[in-house]
Amino acid sequence: MILSLEQLTITNKETRLVDHVSLSIKDGEWFALVGQSGSGKSLLSHSIGQISSPNLKVNGKILFKGKDLLTFTQKEMRRIRGKEIAYIFQDYQSSFTPFRTIGQHLDEYQKAHGILDKKERLQNSIHSLHFVGLEDALYNRYPFQLSGGQLQRVSIASALLLSPDLIIADEITTALDSVSGHHVLELLASKQKETGCTILFITHDWRHVRRYADRLAIMKDGNIVEKGSKHRILDHPSHQYTKELISAAPFLGKGLPSGLEERQTK
Ligand SMILES: Nc1ncnc2c1ncn2[C@@H]1O[C@H](COP(=O)(O)OP(=O)(O)OP(=O)(O)O)[C@@H](O)[C@H]1O
Ligand SMILES: [Mg+2]
Repeated sequence: MILSLEQLTITNKETRLVDHVSLSIKDGEWFALVGQSGSGKSLLSHSIGQISSPNLKVNGKILFKGKDLLTFTQKEMRRIRGKEIAYIFQDYQSSFTPFRTIGQHLDEYQKAHGILDKKERLQNSIHSLHFVGLEDALYNRYPFQLSGGQLQRVSIASALLLSPDLIIADEITTALDSVSGHHVLELLASKQKETGCTILFITHDWRHVRRYADRLAIMKDGNIVEKGSKHRILDHPSHQYTKELISAAPFLGKGLPSGLEERQTK
């Protein structure tokens, strides 16, 4: 297991927003977290990298490669974030400073993680831009000179720059049209194939669960109500809430749009 949450509880004053959640994610798998808006998915994912808002209290254990991240200092966490655990957010626009070029963003990110050779950083940046299907020319552009889809690709390029072991992707296709969304997920899938990294994927889209996930968990009101392999849950959901979610999902039965059929992983 690369990540095990044990009795993870997140509270705001007296309110339990995530309630004694236990969950294990295997090395190299694509793990999906599904559930209604406000059920605690983003809070749970933020707690892993210790990027929760300061008003929230996180208790329990977050074992990453066997070590409890909740015992790590912020300094230690800064080394882990980006290098071992990388985030890709739905709100990717907010991770860019308007008056810094794309190249400067990618460069600073690597510098902050100790890559001191300028040439090496440039090579990595260009390689990473190519990987997500962007041209060199974008290196010198400003964020506002890129489309939403291109910016989301840049944010993926930077998340992948340091080849993290765990990528946490929180609703990364929500702001994109379905073709761009599809491309972005295919990029992640090819990175996973190349490096064997683990993906924690938060989504509302059951088509993406069906295509990409190995296992999944369903969250409701701060609890995990069901977890297991994708096939078991899609074909034989046991919790009433999962049944409702699945039966309300369009395209899960027949008639998937082409390109969204289940991928062949192994
Ligand atoms: N910093 C915070 N302080 C207090 N409450 C918060 C904070 N952040 C989130 N919450 C509350 O915690 C609950 C879970 O929020 P969270 O963002 O994890 O939901 P989610 O499952 O990611 O929803 P969505 O699918 O809409 O993104 C919500 O009720 C939200 O209002
Ligand atoms: Mg969320």
